[in-house]
Amino acid sequence: MNILRKKSISEMLAQSHQKGLSRSLGAFDLTLLGIGAIIGTGIFVLTGVVAAEHAGPALILSFIISGLACAFAAFCYAEFASTVPIAGSVYTYTYATLGEVFAFLIGWDLMLEYLLATSAVATGWSAYFQSLIAGFGLHLPAALASAPGTGKGGIINLPAVIIILIITTLLSRGIRESARVNNIMVFIKLAVIILFIVAGIGYVKPDNWTPFMPFGFQGIVAGAATVFFAYIGFDAVATAAEEVKRPQRDLPLGIIWSLAICTALYIIVSLVLTGMVPFSKLNVADPVSFALHFVGQDSIAGLVSVGAITGITTVLLVMLFAQVRISYAMSRDGLLPPVLSKVHERFKTPFKNTWLTGFVAAGIAGFIDLTTLAHLVNMGTLSAFALIAVAVLVLRKTHPDLKRSFKAPFVPVLPVLTVIFCVYLMISLPAITWISFVIWISIGFIIYFLYARRSSNLNK
Ligand code: ALA
Repeated sequence: MNILRKKSISEMLAQSHQKGLSRSLGAFDLTLLGIGAIIGTGIFVLTGVVAAEHAGPALILSFIISGLACAFAAFCYAEFASTVPIAGSVYTYTYATLGEVFAFLIGWDLMLEYLLATSAVATGWSAYFQSLIAGFGLHLPAALASAPGTGKGGIINLPAVIIILIITTLLSRGIRESARVNNIMVFIKLAVIILFIVAGIGYVKPDNWTPFMPFGFQGIVAGAATVFFAYIGFDAVATAAEEVKRPQRDLPLGIIWSLAICTALYIIVSLVLTGMVPFSKLNVADPVSFALHFVGQDSIAGLVSVGAITGITTVLLVMLFAQVRISYAMSRDGLLPPVLSKVHERFKTPFKNTWLTGFVAAGIAGFIDLTTLAHLVNMGTLSAFALIAVAVLVLRKTHPDLKRSFKAPFVPVLPVLTVIFCVYLMISLPAITWISFVIWISIGFIIYFLYARRSSNLNK
């Protein structure tokens, strides 16, 4: 039972050709899929806290730093996705390159990303939902409006729980996020961001940008480690690998374009936002519509809230979907209990897996606050990005002849930079996040050695 045994790349490629999922997506759909997964709670919610508590008007620098880390990682993802276009994304890549124990741990680690991201994003959804109904004079009782421990008298974040259960119902019944529905929601989301920029730019007062770095460089980096959350999602494009017409060409394009467009928008939004409102006032749950209220644009603020709610919903769909897909793949390989890859006869979905995942995500969203969750998500994702960079280097060594339609530039410098940036941002996360992360990975280790190593299909 060798813990570094690997799945063969050629076998996996052959399998993926047989299975015959319908290949209908092109580069344009993938770009929109990526934007659908990226723009959400990060830009609509976390920007406010980060501006107020960490970065001040230098929020833009936080966005640039974490954008760079993502850009490096995106090239590594693009190379992998074009070379091994197989569902399961980084979990599968690791299984083929670094070996089973790493694949298991990365799959386990990805749960921190997708599962907790579902909960975190739902918390952001809840914030905008509450701000929208407040516009009609409706207020939830404080006990039902937020998680405990945030000083707002909350006992449970009920809207967050409910939206996750609704999304779970949709996903479990096989209403897959069809490309067309996603595309429409993405256009609404983009329209709202552009509306904010256009409506807000006239209210920018350059005075609000001074002092530019009230919390120093340290604050900017801590801010970068938090707003990193806003970029997460371009990696989910890779999970669509088996549904793409020309994956070798289109996956890299989808990954890189979606990230590039969102980065540009984030940079402009952060400039406008901190220019409209003094940064110290931005510590609210709905900063983007708050800024519009602040300058008296109440009806536009209402529109932006509706758009944000729509936009955040697509993120929720993709994150929950990605989580189920990863644990489904791990279960299919024998590394997690078989019930997780059982497909419902009528709905043709991993029904039980979807509900189990939905209940856990809803439970977490009800009782843990957004920032704590976002930090853990970032930790999980940053470690996955670092690992994929290492995997690119390994694959170049072990399989130099594999056909690579897209090659990351400046190897080995770029993957090494990816690792350095990611580790640097990880170090900037709070100690409590590290403690939780270490506990989580240790539990993963134990499960691997007690269960997965024995039950793995590679034993058969
Ligand atoms: N990037 C996604 C968001 O900000 C996770 O909601």
